Amino acid sequence: MKIILAPMEGVVDHAMRELLTASGHYDLCITEFVRVVDQVYKPPYFHKISPELRQGGKTHAGTPVRVQLLGQHPEWMAENAHVATMLGSPGIDINFGCPAKTVNRHKGGAVLLQEPETLFKIVTKVREAVPDPLPVSAKMRLGYENTDLAVDCARAIEKGGASMLTIHARTKIEGYRPPAHWHLINDIRQHVSLPIVANGDIWSRADAIKCRRVSGCDDIMIGRGALCLPNLVSVIREDAAPLPWVEVCQLLIQYAAFVRDSKARGYLPSRIKQWFSYLKRQYPEAHTVFEKIKRLRQLDEIIAIIRP
Ligand SMILES: Cc1cc2nc3c(=O)[nH]c(=O)nc-3n(C[C@H](O)[C@H](O)[C@H](O)COP(=O)(O)O)c2cc1C
Repeated sequence: MKIILAPMEGVVDHAMRELLTASGHYDLCITEFVRVVDQVYKPPYFHKISPELRQGGKTHAGTPVRVQLLGQHPEWMAENAHVATMLGSPGIDINFGCPAKTVNRHKGGAVLLQEPETLFKIVTKVREAVPDPLPVSAKMRLGYENTDLAVDCARAIEKGGASMLTIHARTKIEGYRPPAHWHLINDIRQHVSLPIVANGDIWSRADAIKCRRVSGCDDIMIGRGALCLPNLVSVIREDAAPLPWVEVCQLLIQYAAFVRDSKARGYLPSRIKQWFSYLKRQYPEAHTVFEKIKRLRQLDEIIAIIRP
């Protein structure tokens, strides 16, 4: 079983990838998306999205970190894919799942699930631009408004040369509303032969077991669940005990220390508060601490309260 850490724009950044991959074994991380419109980004932008490029495209724990691109123009996508891999990204992931209105309005993300032919062209061009041994993967939802084109999309992605496809088991209009339709992943899987990774609403070991059974997939991707329970990956793999709250607090402090000296320092208080919104789902203690920090703006004040 492979377990992949989900890309989460504005949440799973470099620091979070370092922390989570140090807390348990992930097979792969995908970066937040690089939005490609009509230009080729310069190296500093790729380094900002994936500082891991400076350390061989891996986190310190050795987990590969694949750059994700989002866009509608095959040529611009291909050129950016080329640069990212030249800089050391161990492959490219393509985002066909983003539901954000601004992104969809500019024909990026899930809106493209209405045009399998465009998916095919994008994957084909990106595949041509990425050196052979490096994988090109894609991530899709079940569809835009409905699931009618799901199989066509998966086939187009496979035909374009992708070697792995993650399916978030909801349509675009379902947003993040439960349930995730794992059984529909199984239906799609019957029509393609590339490895499919099941994604959506895996919050526990029991969910992971059920998702793998219902979707028929060996491999899974976890996102929000891994933020709620920072050692979810080990809970799933080894039936580990949930991380105690004191250790979660230590992780929060490590996260702060990690980002503190970087350029990202300014956004840190809001990122920590955002992480609390996930931790509250798993840890009753997070509610109490969050009430105390929610109006604080200074990082040091926030850390003083979190420190166990
Ligand atoms: C805040 C947020 C940001 C996300 N950003 C991305 C992204 O940049 N690229 C992407 O492919 N998916 C993105 N996703 C979708 C997740 O990768 C994942 O597919 C989704 O959250 C369902 O999995 P989960 O239930 O395990 O969280 C994002 C989801 C959330 C909640």
